[in-house]
Amino acid sequence: MRIPFIAGNWKMFKTKADAVKFAEEFKSLYKGTDIQAAICAPFTDLEALAEIFKGTDIKIGAQNVHFADEGAYTGEISVSMLEEIGVDFCIVGHSERRQYFAETDGTVNLKMKRLLDSSIRPIMCVGESLEERDAGKAFDRVRSQLEQGLADIDAEAAVRIVIAYEPIWAIGTGRTATGEQAGQMCEFIRNTLIDLYGEDTADQVIIQYGGSVKPANAAEIMNMAEIDGALVGGASLKAKDFMEIIDF
Ligand code: G3P
Repeated sequence: MRIPFIAGNWKMFKTKADAVKFAEEFKSLYKGTDIQAAICAPFTDLEALAEIFKGTDIKIGAQNVHFADEGAYTGEISVSMLEEIGVDFCIVGHSERRQYFAETDGTVNLKMKRLLDSSIRPIMCVGESLEERDAGKAFDRVRSQLEQGLADIDAEAAVRIVIAYEPIWAIGTGRTATGEQAGQMCEFIRNTLIDLYGEDTADQVIIQYGGSVKPANAAEIMNMAEIDGALVGGASLKAKDFMEIIDF
């Protein structure tokens, strides 16, 4: 039984003061639902969010992490640093990190393995570009991201993974994939997971859709059979909008 999971990805928005304001408002709106909710915030906001959400079901997530335990990696953050402040989830391989920060399927795989060796659950992002979609290569691209990102990860670990399908052409563009397009790719992702891990394991993996999810289209997306949740960018920045998506 998969618990639907809707996470906000704030990207590089919100100072700590902004985050505290959001969290207090969101906590007052949040009445508890059957849906797991989380906010993936900038590192500098995480401790304050953990404090405010303590004792609630609202989870917190980071947006990136380094794969080494520790070391001379100026500017990086380790898994144990996140664990210590109570982080529950961590996004890995978001297309913006692949595009601007040289994230590769290889580094995604190292980060996935390191996180799966910790208490933090990874949210691994996959998705094709517009050129790949137009060239009929969307499914090949996503399959290859899954195979490489999940290399050497066994079924026991795989059940803790969240996969977020985020077609690059739908991110921040206002151009959402239709329920049908998103549903079709998420079904393909589930089938790929069946090939990699067998049906029992694949059945337990949460698959989210991300890309211009808003209160107005949340129900269409969430009602697709193989979509278990959403990874929400822009519309997670306002507590009311994010709550409306969770209440779809
Ligand atoms: O990770 C969420 C994301 O990339 C989608 O962003 O602003 O299109 O909802 P947005």
